[in-house]
Amino acid sequence: MNFLLIGSGGREHALAWKLAQSRLLHPEGREAGKLYAAPGNPGIAELAECVKLDVTDHDAVIAFCNDHNIGLVVVGPEAPLVDGLADSLRGAGIAVFGPSKEAAQLEGSKGFTKDMCTRAGIPTAAYARCDDEASAMAALADFPIPVVVKADGLAAGKGVIIAETLEQAQEAIRDIFGGMFGAAGASVVIEEFMTGEEASYFAITDGATIMPFGSAQDHKRVGEGDTGPNTGGMGAYSPAPVLTPMLRGQVLERIIAPTVRQMAEDGMPYRGVLYAGLMLTDEGPKLIEYNCRFGDPECQVLMMRLEDDLGEILYACATNSLAKLRAARFADQTALTVVMAANGYPGTPEKGGAINALDAAEAEGGKVFHAGTAMNDGQLVANGGRVLNVTATGESVSEAQAAAYAMVDAIDFPTGFCRRDIGWREVEREKTN
Ligand code: AMP
Ligand code: GLY
Repeated sequence: MNFLLIGSGGREHALAWKLAQSRLLHPEGREAGKLYAAPGNPGIAELAECVKLDVTDHDAVIAFCNDHNIGLVVVGPEAPLVDGLADSLRGAGIAVFGPSKEAAQLEGSKGFTKDMCTRAGIPTAAYARCDDEASAMAALADFPIPVVVKADGLAAGKGVIIAETLEQAQEAIRDIFGGMFGAAGASVVIEEFMTGEEASYFAITDGATIMPFGSAQDHKRVGEGDTGPNTGGMGAYSPAPVLTPMLRGQVLERIIAPTVRQMAEDGMPYRGVLYAGLMLTDEGPKLIEYNCRFGDPECQVLMMRLEDDLGEILYACATNSLAKLRAARFADQTALTVVMAANGYPGTPEKGGAINALDAAEAEGGKVFHAGTAMNDGQLVANGGRVLNVTATGESVSEAQAAAYAMVDAIDFPTGFCRRDIGWREVEREKTN
């Protein structure tokens, strides 16, 4: 069978790397299948045939799948899912890894998710969902300060404001209803501010069977010590030891399983990966938010550890047959990825800077996944904010961290930068253990 992978980031390079090894692409005694990527990037191009496809044109994607005998479509980013691409493909009889438009509301609408949590009794921050400015202003009275104000819809990770004063909260509400986040701000969710350490938990589900798929911790802020503006993520590691086996059990039992049950009961079974952002509070793990896709760069560290056939797992998910597979196996080792970004990120990143010596970095033993790169006359250059994901493994977070930075130091990317402290929380804990 042939695969089509949609997306162009480091997440998709890591998915392509694992998909390219799938037995489904290399059936014994038969002709090997082909991996296509739309649009892909220069790293993915080493593993797949990159094609231009307008993924908002669902008929064009269906026609491509039919013309190229695609047996499985894997959708990397959230936007095409929230836009209903999986529904269109399923409607045309094409197997697709990723939730329906209705089910993708778990990422596409924060209010939808909070209401689902209420129906299913899932632990999460207390909240109010408001459709107009006056009711949102009034609802603020019910929350202590600091308070969290969120635009309901997709806002490229920018629609969450932690307000330290009442005035900031009021300003955030005015901004959101004033159109600062476009259509994402048609309604707001006001939330109780939770304290604790954050961690991510992943599970793949076909709407009935749940396959736990590892844990990770990421670093969202651009600056060392988790300071400065938010980004898409400057680095991550997996597993996250802070999610102990006991806590993982609680997450599965109190958050993931009730979500899968509730979504099915509500007539919108969730198929795909559930990426739960969690706050580990004194009262136990609470859901901050769901994403309906793999995290970027969390996916990169999960793929480094995955020992099973990703193609088989995603195909089983897409065809409602996860129950036939055994639990996914992950290496005990830690994987850690450092994001190298272009100077200027998360503001306007400098484009076109030359990147060299990736081979020397990989000779150190890990993988360099491409995110925002481009090929310019045979020279690899920076072409986005987050450019490279330098990924290594080790017996501890400290070891994986040292290995990843040895790779970073081998890379020649003068117009790029990275944080030097990815994994610091766990490295500190490892020092005292
Ligand atoms: P989100 O875009 O929903 O992931 O939120 C971005 C970040 O805001 C999260 O990773 C948390 O650090 C923080 N955050 C969101 N909701 C809350 C909350 N209710 N309490 C404390 N922090 C929160
Ligand atoms: N790294 C955070 C995300 O993918 O949303």
